[in-house]
Amino acid sequence: MWSDLMAVGIPELDADHKLIIAQIQQLYLHRATQNRDALKSCFSALVDYTIRHFAKEEEYMKQIGFKRVAEHIKRHQAFAAQLNVFISIHNNADSFEITDDVLNFMVHWLDNHILTDDKDYAAYAAQCA
Ligand SMILES: [Fe+2]
Ligand SMILES: [Fe+2]
Repeated sequence: MWSDLMAVGIPELDADHKLIIAQIQQLYLHRATQNRDALKSCFSALVDYTIRHFAKEEEYMKQIGFKRVAEHIKRHQAFAAQLNVFISIHNNADSFEITDDVLNFMVHWLDNHILTDDKDYAAYAAQCA
């Protein structure tokens, strides 16, 4: 769930975070209603959107000269690799399914990442403004 504590103060990146969180809520909904087609298309939309968001964020961190950009990029890459593992597992399954464990992992990772790593570049940007 989005909270104002997550705001990084850059409208485009905050909008991305809000949309990513909303997309995960949709996934829970499609799971609850067993709408597998919607689940599959929403999951791949979420992965695409998240990867595009990471690229925008990485560009922004480089622009402001954020010192811990390399570490941050590694975290993005590790999460993207994990998403790709989920995609390949699910694409090979007979019917598309996402477990609670996977969804909970994604929520936990994203909440934690926004509240710590993303807020870290936000604090740096505010200091240097
Ligand atoms: Fe990030
Ligand atoms: Fe982010």
